[in-house]
Amino acid sequence: MNNRVVEPLSKNIMQASDLLKSGQLVAIPTETVYGLAANALDDQAVARIYELKNRPQFNPLIIHFSELEHVSKHVILSDTALKLAKAFWPGPMTLVLPRKESSEISLLASAGLDTLAVRIPSHPVSLDFLKQAQVPVAAPSANPSQALSPTTAEHVLSAFQNNNKLAMILDGGPCEVGLESTIIDLTEVTPVILRPGGITADAISQVIGKTIGSATEASHKPKAPGLLHRHYAPNIPLRLNATEVKANEVLLAFGPNALTHSLNLSSSGDLTEAAANLFKMLRLLDQPQYQGIAVMPIPNVGIGVAINNRLERASVR
Ligand code: TXA
Ligand code: MG
Repeated sequence: MNNRVVEPLSKNIMQASDLLKSGQLVAIPTETVYGLAANALDDQAVARIYELKNRPQFNPLIIHFSELEHVSKHVILSDTALKLAKAFWPGPMTLVLPRKESSEISLLASAGLDTLAVRIPSHPVSLDFLKQAQVPVAAPSANPSQALSPTTAEHVLSAFQNNNKLAMILDGGPCEVGLESTIIDLTEVTPVILRPGGITADAISQVIGKTIGSATEASHKPKAPGLLHRHYAPNIPLRLNATEVKANEVLLAFGPNALTHSLNLSSSGDLTEAAANLFKMLRLLDQPQYQGIAVMPIPNVGIGVAINNRLERASVR
């Protein structure tokens, strides 16, 4: 199947949101860049984003909403967050906020973190789409890993031509901002800009009534823009490539030849399923009565590369 670029007519927007709800990926315009959208409540759909982007690691994704009321179901909105939301949403601003325990957003979408990056885009097509979908939407920029962010439907098409994992591309014209959203971390005492964007530090400082620091100027130097998030790590040690289970360890298995009866990332050996289960299973096994989690070898191919990358990071103590 060729990717279909469609005009943003309401019947097409409705079809795109139906595809999304059935677990497929669709590309949507936003005012910043085009996004590769998946139902954020669906682990498997989120795993397909990483697969299609061919990302060697699981970066947490931004979750898109059409209304503040929906945002507030998933994150804790501080006074500062509300002030910023009022000033800049809908618009090119993303807020990193503490995730509510009750939120059912895929842990893979937030790469296992206790925080969520959320935003309400202003592009009328994305707002229409999000209203139709009625689910939170995880959407990174719709480009393969390392490639430039797409600001037209043609960019998206040429990046994923003939890839049947992308069901539809909604054409909303060229993106007005053309640069990814400003990401503000509100989970620490002082708000910090994690990724600069269209909304400036000065404009943000004015709204919150104090100066805002930029992570790029601060002590921790980022390797790449937008990569300044913390990494998920369990409280108990992780032992990788385990070929046996030691006393007091619990096993995270992979494949049909599981060593013991325990949690299995995918008993059929399906790497997409394993990615979808990774963070929720790690959390389930991260219990103080065990001395550690033994993880069976994961093939280092396709999305397995990202799984191993994340396991390696989580095993460093
Ligand atoms: O303008 C945009 O923000 C576009 C459009 C599609 O909305 N989206 C976008 O997504 O740029 P993406 O995945 O390419 O960049 C998201 C960045 C990640 O690199 C990650 O560092 C940061 O957001 N991020 C996401 N969740 C986070 C979290 N919980 N804590 C810290 N940073 C987070
Ligand atoms: Mg990106």
